[in-house]
Amino acid sequence: MNYSARKSVGDAIASTEELAEPVTIGVDAYISPEYARAERDRLWRKTWLQAGRVEDIPEIGSYLTYEILDDSILIIRTSADEIKAYYNVCAHRGRRLVDTPPGARNARGKRMRFVCGFHSWTYDLNGRCVYIQDKELWQGALNDENTRLGRVKCDSWGGFIWINMDPDCETLLEYLDPAPELLNPYQLQNMRCRWRKWIIFDCNWKVALEAFDEIYHVPGTHPEFLAFSDFPGWARNHGKHSNIGYDAPRAMDENQQAKLRIGTGDARVSTAEMQIYTWEAANTNTTPTLLNAALRLRDELPEGTPPNEVLQYWLKSAKADDAARGVIWPDVEPAHNAKAGTAWQIFPNTQIGHAVNNMLCYQARPYQYDPNKCIFEAAVYELYPEGEAPESEWQYTKREQWPPVLQQDFANMAAVQLGMKNGGFRGTQPNPYRERAIPSLHYNLSKYMGEGAPRKLPKEG
Ligand code: FES
Ligand SMILES: [Fe+2]
Repeated sequence: MNYSARKSVGDAIASTEELAEPVTIGVDAYISPEYARAERDRLWRKTWLQAGRVEDIPEIGSYLTYEILDDSILIIRTSADEIKAYYNVCAHRGRRLVDTPPGARNARGKRMRFVCGFHSWTYDLNGRCVYIQDKELWQGALNDENTRLGRVKCDSWGGFIWINMDPDCETLLEYLDPAPELLNPYQLQNMRCRWRKWIIFDCNWKVALEAFDEIYHVPGTHPEFLAFSDFPGWARNHGKHSNIGYDAPRAMDENQQAKLRIGTGDARVSTAEMQIYTWEAANTNTTPTLLNAALRLRDELPEGTPPNEVLQYWLKSAKADDAARGVIWPDVEPAHNAKAGTAWQIFPNTQIGHAVNNMLCYQARPYQYDPNKCIFEAAVYELYPEGEAPESEWQYTKREQWPPVLQQDFANMAAVQLGMKNGGFRGTQPNPYRERAIPSLHYNLSKYMGEGAPRKLPKEG
């Protein structure tokens, strides 16, 4: 594998501390068919993968499936407090046990028994095969062990279900460290989905994820947002994972919505305008409560109120509005917010954009073994009063039907993939401070894949 026109400009970085160095990353990880094929065994079958939400399987017997390349995993609630995962394949002759309905992202439903569609071998929630037609003809050779469904490691954190196909893997909490410590105060497990959409892109899964793991692209890709901020983003490495956030005055870190700095002029008006644009054009990172509270600012605050006071009043009144309908935002210290940032990239392929009252999650997975295609998905969550969360299902959504701001991001995907394959491209050169999540991903990928660590760019002088 050597698609890079410039394979080695400097030493490969050898520790996470060196991720602050200017680096270049070769294109093999993005465009090589051999690399894409090797990811199955070295990456996808070795890492904890975010496979769904706990609330999607609320009752005993509720199940969903998660597909990653050739592997399909069946995840079942087996008791009020236990979720188990199995390989979704019948032990008899290998029929996939639960089919994904045509056009659906995954299967989801409720059953107390799983009957194979081929010869009716039947499994209980614990994966035991409880019915085998003509079992005696196997002359006693079939037993619980060779007829049960294969177990897959499964655990939950943050309201998400995670699976790992490596029987010798570290625990989920060890793997996620230090993300849980920094994200637990946001109580992500209490959020419920407002919408979730998926699409297939003509780009590698890393190209899709990397379009969302930095804020550096905002002026170039989303110029409309410049009316509200100049977007000084940072990115930090945390072992396998990374996070991003804003270099903003302390008071602005109080909430993710506050990440958009309120410009000059009437802050009451610009806050409302920013909220209207964010709600209508992105439908992410805000909620109806925040929007409505912003729309009232002009009536509730005198002209000339300083921006900081507008911001604090806005968040306080939105918080009170939510409390009045039984939606309690967790209290998170400003200093903690500043550390936790606005989004976490959980290795290898999940991003969680957290806030005290909403979250925006992305995931990208390979589409078959084609390095030039991926399945991309986005899900938006918020806090709802008990029992009032809407029913949501994954919707395959054509590009032109996504919120316009996301379409701006999508417009780069195939073009980046094409550019990566251009013989004149010398490898990526991410911003060492604002785009460090990218070398962080590739450094960690190299640990699993055995190649592709970012290399230092020589510095002049
Ligand atoms: S393959 Fe499942 S019962 Fe035969
Ligand atoms: Fe974007």
